[in-house]
Amino acid sequence: MERLDKILANMGVGTRKEVKKLTRKGAVKVNGVTVTDSDIKIDEENDEITVFDQPLVYRKYVYLMLNKPSGYVSAVTDNRYPTVVELADDFYSNYDLFPVGRLDVDTEGLLVLTNDGALAHKVLSPKNHIPKKYFVKTKRQVTKEDVKMLQSPMDLGDFTTIPAKVEFCEDGVVICIYEGKFHQVKRMFEKTGNEVTYLKRISMGKLCLDEKLELGEMRELEEQEVQLLVLDKI
Ligand code: URA
Repeated sequence: MERLDKILANMGVGTRKEVKKLTRKGAVKVNGVTVTDSDIKIDEENDEITVFDQPLVYRKYVYLMLNKPSGYVSAVTDNRYPTVVELADDFYSNYDLFPVGRLDVDTEGLLVLTNDGALAHKVLSPKNHIPKKYFVKTKRQVTKEDVKMLQSPMDLGDFTTIPAKVEFCEDGVVICIYEGKFHQVKRMFEKTGNEVTYLKRISMGKLCLDEKLELGEMRELEEQEVQLLVLDKI
């Protein structure tokens, strides 16, 4: 059961205030009966809601792919930096979005925002070892010896990595890691005596960043794309 005003706002009918007004005016029916009080609780999955006699299809969860820009913190609220949630369109303001995991403030790239706690838990559970790929630029060139170290278990003090996979590419390297510890990629390169100067996540599970998204832009994920997030476990 969920409050009618929240459901209507979530479905993009309007802000909570606008929705209350509409309901008071008699525009909203639940199971064919006009309701004027939007504070009532209804069964969002089974009750039929219409606005001006147009049926609404309820969406409980939303999934957004963001191309995170540098300078935004992966949190819902913060008193120092703007948050990734603030980048979402007002349309989503009633969905209680949060980021699935964290990218550092200066890291760019793929970040999923959702209100689906179960999905987030699956993606983030350390047991699941969901692979994450990052494009990395470093202060000095990465050597074959560095790659050997990165591709072996690395003791980072608080944990030992599952061997990463590293590939050279045009102006940096792509590393695939299987955990998501604090500053993990930066710490791994630091251990090789190097320094990360630019970091961008390019995939999570089998979900790749949509390169059409400009920094700071986001779009909804298709249903199949949501499933790609939790694929490719090892
Ligand atoms: N590893 C890091 O060091 N930083 C990130 O933002 C993500 C992975």
